[in-house]
Amino acid sequence: MKKRIAIFASGSGSNAQKIMEHFKYSTIGEVSLILSNNMDAYVLQRADNFEIPSHTFDKTAFYKSDEILDILKRLDIDIIVLAGFLWLVPENLLKAFPNKIINIHPALLPKFGGKGMYGDKVHQAVLEAKEEEHGITIHFVNENFDEGEVIHQARFKVEPEDTLEILKFKGQQLEHQYYPRIIENLLKKYN
Ligand code: GAR
Repeated sequence: MKKRIAIFASGSGSNAQKIMEHFKYSTIGEVSLILSNNMDAYVLQRADNFEIPSHTFDKTAFYKSDEILDILKRLDIDIIVLAGFLWLVPENLLKAFPNKIINIHPALLPKFGGKGMYGDKVHQAVLEAKEEEHGITIHFVNENFDEGEVIHQARFKVEPEDTLEILKFKGQQLEHQYYPRIIENLLKKYN
């Protein structure tokens, strides 16, 4: 039986795209649902393109009801993948999916993580700190932003001429390269 993946995303969804491409013909897993807190998120269009169902929700549904938990259970979801999802995961989901919720962050955590640290702000902070290396982190999710056990990090050297755009591009390349593979490796370990 293929393992079932639910992806939460708030924005463009380029990582979601790579994950949907990777699992389109996989025998290991399939993307069963895309969830978003943003009705205008481009990731919803991407889901349509793959004919994968999507669901949007607001803060009340997410934090004050079991609506999302019920949907995930009904669809027999095995793993929750956050891909540019910017809200904290509530306790009902953390309890129901122990060590089965993962996130990707565009920096080498614990550096440059936490509330408000996303997108260009991360790369700007890396430039300002004159870091010699930068990279990405894939980690298990807990009740705090960008914490939880690290599953994988990939890094690159920051060159003196690197701009914010270049750092962002290099990081994105690594994210797209590693996230689908890491998800597949985790799924292979599930019974
Ligand atoms: C990714 O770079 C991801 O690492 C970041 O949001 C971006 C989403 O891009 N996530 C975080 O910053 C989480 N703290 P995408 O919508 O193109 O996949």
